[in-house]
Amino acid sequence: MNRLITAENVAQIMRELGELGILTTQVTWPDKPMPDKEMYLPYARGWATFAPWSREPHIRAMIQRMHDQGVKSLVDADRAWTLICAFRQTRGLPGEVWETGVYQGGSATLFKRLMQEAAASNGASPARLRLFDSFEGLPQTTCGLDLHHGGDFADTSLEKVRDTVGGEEWIDFHAGWIPATFAGLEAASIRLAHVDVDLYQPILDCCDFIYPRLAPGGMMIFDDYGLPSCPGARAAIDFFFRGRPEAPFPLINGQCVVTRLPGRP
Ligand SMILES: C[S@@+](CC[C@H](N)C(=O)[O-])C[C@H]1O[C@@H](n2cnc3c(N)ncnc32)[C@H](O)[C@@H]1O
Repeated sequence: MNRLITAENVAQIMRELGELGILTTQVTWPDKPMPDKEMYLPYARGWATFAPWSREPHIRAMIQRMHDQGVKSLVDADRAWTLICAFRQTRGLPGEVWETGVYQGGSATLFKRLMQEAAASNGASPARLRLFDSFEGLPQTTCGLDLHHGGDFADTSLEKVRDTVGGEEWIDFHAGWIPATFAGLEAASIRLAHVDVDLYQPILDCCDFIYPRLAPGGMMIFDDYGLPSCPGARAAIDFFFRGRPEAPFPLINGQCVVTRLPGRP
């Protein structure tokens, strides 16, 4: 849709962006001391940039579906856009799509729709989507850097998420604690992994297991890298990739992208 930003419609546009979770006028900080606080800045600027996520039908459908089912998603529109771009970039690669950290199924629903659509346009059946979560909230934290508490995000259940996402044969729910739920998947090849588990140790566990199984050109998208509420996430990712050939690529919205280099041993 083409729409000029004029003085008359700016309030309406701001309202729509607010509903999509793109725009906020409030900066929130964790209520506990956090490291490097002076290095966390609001990322809004006084000019507009191209924002395709504001009109992306998949994102609108995800938000609408979550809203209709009374389900919360912690992945808002610009973060969902990163997932869509990574999905498109890796679509020619062999391998599965993984999500670690599902909560009530917001981003999992997005992946499901993308995979269904890709399969329909190829005339093939969808690749495998694996969804990992305790479905009981976060585990107790073992790293002093983490600001979240064990039991955060416990307002979910496997049954509810299966209802939300769907129980198709090509979708596997791995309920339980990461990394134990990776057992038996040693032979997997992964084209795209969305890692959204908030805490130092499970993020490190995901890196340990997923990175060696990424197809060349495959991607890991970390949701929490730059969030002030998740300093343990940044520490785990920086620690894991120090000395490895891939450089974590932080995005201005707090996500971080790693693409496995082809030809890497
Ligand atoms: C921020 S939520 C995920 C948000 C979700 N991607 C969405 O679209 O709303 C983080 C999730 O990670 C899960 N989690 C964190 N550590 C875990 C672990 N060690 N094992 C299993 N699940 C874990 C929690 O249960 C929680 O549901």
